[in-house]
Amino acid sequence: MPHPITLVEMGPRDGLQNEKQIVDVATKVELIERLANAGLKNVEAGAFVSPKWVPQMAATDEVMAIIERKPDVSYPVLTPNLKGYEGARAAKADTIAVFGAASESFSQKNINCSIVESLERFRPVVDAAKADGIKVRGYVSCVLGCPYEGKITPEQVVPVAKALYEMGCYEISLGDTIGVGTPEETKALIRAVATEVPISALAGHFHDTYGQALANIWAAITEGVAVFDCSVSGLGGCPYAKGASGNVASEDVVYSLARSGYDTGVNLDALMETSIWISEILGRKPGSKATLALKGA
Ligand code: HMG
Ligand code: MG
Repeated sequence: MPHPITLVEMGPRDGLQNEKQIVDVATKVELIERLANAGLKNVEAGAFVSPKWVPQMAATDEVMAIIERKPDVSYPVLTPNLKGYEGARAAKADTIAVFGAASESFSQKNINCSIVESLERFRPVVDAAKADGIKVRGYVSCVLGCPYEGKITPEQVVPVAKALYEMGCYEISLGDTIGVGTPEETKALIRAVATEVPISALAGHFHDTYGQALANIWAAITEGVAVFDCSVSGLGGCPYAKGASGNVASEDVVYSLARSGYDTGVNLDALMETSIWISEILGRKPGSKATLALKGA
């Protein structure tokens, strides 16, 4: 019997952070609530980052104040530093996420500091969250390639993942920020990181720029990874990773896993309806092949 797979929905955060038009608070709230109602147990709700850097996430405090929270759903928010943490705590976040990188150049462009400096910044954030009973997730970006440096090796990823895990992150999400990785590269990466971080604490976060994301998820599953980030309608991208397209579409992941006997607990139909709804608001077709095929959207 295949083991359960946990999905972490990225649409409201990674999905919307890269949109040119500012999505209003009411739409963000409805998106988060629709995703939770579709059965997703983790819905990343926003980011307490500088509004000058990412204007799209500026109203995360308002969003967090309005959403109707389900007791069995977690609503993580990004926090790059203590200022972000204070915002998250005031918003009563149950989970926060710190985000580092395996590439020096990306770290500088994304959070304006080196990898070592970022880890120094995250430590007091993680300590404060632990003291307040708030869970902390850790991201490592550019695990299979960097928009500025090109190839990134597993040896560059391992120490960052290890440092975040030892700091107290309960889960390390390995981000293929620009979607360049392939299944064999993914397997090699997972094997290397699993020497220092338990496989049960690893998650995959695959952007789909080169159409490899779903294949990479399956490669990671064969290595024992059971948590994956995905985004409704394949929304997403990072403003500091030019050319990166969206995350793997949540509907495509749910379709593929369900037909292979894996339980995700997600209602595919409700997810596809949400995908069509948000895509209409954003003025485009859903970015999920399953939704296009099944709904004729
Ligand atoms: P900085 O300019 O070095 O920060 O930015 P600073 O500490 O020097 O402060 C400068 C100003 O920003 C000050 O305001 C601070 O108060 C303010 P001023 O005095 O000029 O008016 N500030 C803040 N405001 C709100 N919230 C905060 C905050 N911190 C400082 N938390 C900083 C450093 C980290 C803040 C900035 O670089 C930043 O916000 N970066 C975020 C970038 C981002 O959100 N990127 C996208 C998310 S990561 C991603 O998408 C990848 C992922 O999906 C995985 C993958 O795909 O690989 C997770
Ligand atoms: Mg991302």
